[in-house]
Amino acid sequence: MSKNINFFKNKITETWPGKKDISTEFIFYLKEKLHLSDVSIYIDDYSLSKDEENSINQFIALKKQEVPLDYILEKSSFYGNNFFVDPRVLIPRPETEILVDFINKLNLQSGEIVIDAGTGSGCIGISLAIHNPHIKVYGLDFSKESLEVANKNKNNLKVENFTTIYSDWLSNIEDASCNLIVSNPPYISSEDKHLRDLHHEPLMALTALDNGLADFKTISRQAPSKLLKGGMLAFEHGYKQEREVSEILKKNGFKNIETLEDHQSHPRITIGILSN
Ligand SMILES: C[S@@+](CC[C@H](N)C(=O)[O-])C[C@H]1O[C@@H](n2cnc3c(N)ncnc32)[C@H](O)[C@@H]1O
Repeated sequence: MSKNINFFKNKITETWPGKKDISTEFIFYLKEKLHLSDVSIYIDDYSLSKDEENSINQFIALKKQEVPLDYILEKSSFYGNNFFVDPRVLIPRPETEILVDFINKLNLQSGEIVIDAGTGSGCIGISLAIHNPHIKVYGLDFSKESLEVANKNKNNLKVENFTTIYSDWLSNIEDASCNLIVSNPPYISSEDKHLRDLHHEPLMALTALDNGLADFKTISRQAPSKLLKGGMLAFEHGYKQEREVSEILKKNGFKNIETLEDHQSHPRITIGILSN
């Protein structure tokens, strides 16, 4: 006999008592994946087909393994576009939109070249390319699997001015070749207890040696020879890393260092300009 929506709504509340977020995700799943309307979900107590039931059982099985909803839906909304995501890449975070927004307001000139170092899904580089069709953006990553996802997003979103490069940070970038380097590198220390909650995301996208600072140091050391005169380096970082990241930028010859806050008023983005 076919089951109704309310059967599964109740099953979810019983399985995760008091966890409203899973019930909210379930409703989102019904709309996004099964294309059910509010009327079917809230009023009609819609009677599900066998395929729909199987799909919901799959959702419940994945949530029991704590798989994030974006991986289940293979979709993540970022800066007004939907990006394909799967466990090969980090799920884009809302705070990263602040970095993109800052750069979009810089009024980049025609032909300027931007490097997105550690592009992952391509969310930063592709968003910049879409909003600045007159610039060229290169998204690099040392994970070939990430580059496959970034290319899938480039094709899905029909972005011509974004190109991927396989590179260990800036090692495959030509000297004096770009105006801006932007990066959201891995910045979590491998000792950090929050890592336990992120066990479905690629470790390579999350952790860095040296208390989470190693990749800021590598990129900041490599960037001065890759940037053109007056070039900019912009980082997203952990909310307790502002002082260290500013110091690293200063040590490598960057000036006019500025930090922006995220939506929780935590210092989150630090930018420096190459002084000579
Ligand atoms: C925090 S994720 C950021 C992904 C994406 N830019 C975003 O903001 O959602 C860091 C990215 O850096 C990449 N990465 C790690 N080590 C790298 C290296 N040595 N060279 C280039 N990319 C690297 C990871 O594969 C991952 O895609």
